Amino acid sequence: MKTINKTIPMPALGFGTLIPDAAVTISATRDALEAGFRHFDCAERYRNESEVGEALQAGLADLGIAREEIFVTTKLWNTNHRPERVEPAFGESLKRLRLNYLDLYLIHTPFAFQPGDEQDPRDQNGNVIYDSGVNLPDTWKAMEHLVDGGKCRAIGLADITLDKLLPIYASARIKPAVIQVEAHPYLPETELLEFCKEKGIVFLAFAPLGHGIKPGPLEDPVILSIAARVGKTPAQVLLAWAVQRGTALLTTAKSAARARENFDISPLPEDAFNEINRIQTRQRFNQVVNTGVPGFIPKR
Ligand SMILES: NC(=O)c1ccc[n+]([C@@H]2O[C@H](COP(=O)([O-])OP(=O)(O)OC[C@H]3O[C@@H](n4cnc5c(N)ncnc54)[C@H](OP(=O)(O)O)[C@@H]3O)[C@@H](O)[C@H]2O)c1
Repeated sequence: MKTINKTIPMPALGFGTLIPDAAVTISATRDALEAGFRHFDCAERYRNESEVGEALQAGLADLGIAREEIFVTTKLWNTNHRPERVEPAFGESLKRLRLNYLDLYLIHTPFAFQPGDEQDPRDQNGNVIYDSGVNLPDTWKAMEHLVDGGKCRAIGLADITLDKLLPIYASARIKPAVIQVEAHPYLPETELLEFCKEKGIVFLAFAPLGHGIKPGPLEDPVILSIAARVGKTPAQVLLAWAVQRGTALLTTAKSAARARENFDISPLPEDAFNEINRIQTRQRFNQVVNTGVPGFIPKR
């Protein structure tokens, strides 16, 4: 369990809902709840908040889980960075998720796109149309107003680099509570993690399994040998490493068996933990951090 803003508990193991298929979103969210996940990561951009909301509403009722027992995040998309668009976008997400408050709202990327209903605005050459009429500090102020309004418990940023985070952190009235970025043994983001630890910001790792891409951390010889040694699966070893180094994480599984597997983690022996820290391969799997264009989005 992590604590954000010194008071709000956030389960370190989070379930990501970036799932392309609507029916699978519903079944996987339900399976995750049944496996024990109590932290759910969503986004306007995933175009499936309604399905997640449906699954959560039914799942909480059927399993006797109170709303306060789960932690739900969603994200402001790039086309809604203009301050006057932030509150309406937040309200629409709440409605789709069938919730009356959010635990965490993140700016999905630091890149503003042309405002409007088209999530992926492009010019005739296929280039993204960015919005030069807004800057990140102004969007952040609108996020702070959401916390003031009482329907959003905490705010943060995703796909942000340390150099972009520093000025926001310095000028923010309400400091970012959580940073969500790609992290795994091939991309440990140690400098960003150290900054977060120093400032009490939760570092929330996405792609802890390297997005499941092979070859990748799931097939790394060090991970495979530790998995065999400790009697866990490679995925369980990677997730345990992420928690053990002090991060929270998001993992996505489409089947009930994998949801149970990913929830069933235990601490690694110190030598195994250190061995993973010594892996030298460096690889980023998702380039969203460079342009704001997501590498993996639902196709519907
Ligand atoms: N902020 C951002 O820009 C951003 C970007 C990407 C993701 N995210 C968030 O992070 C969440 C996590 O997604 P991710 O792709 O980053 O997670 P991940 O856990 O690194 O990768 C998920 C992939 O690994 C596979 N997998 C899951 N459990 C496994 C296991 N036990 N053994 C072997 N393979 C396994 C899944 O396969 P199956 O699908 O077949 O189960 C899926 O293809 C997303 O849902 C989203 O909420 C945020």
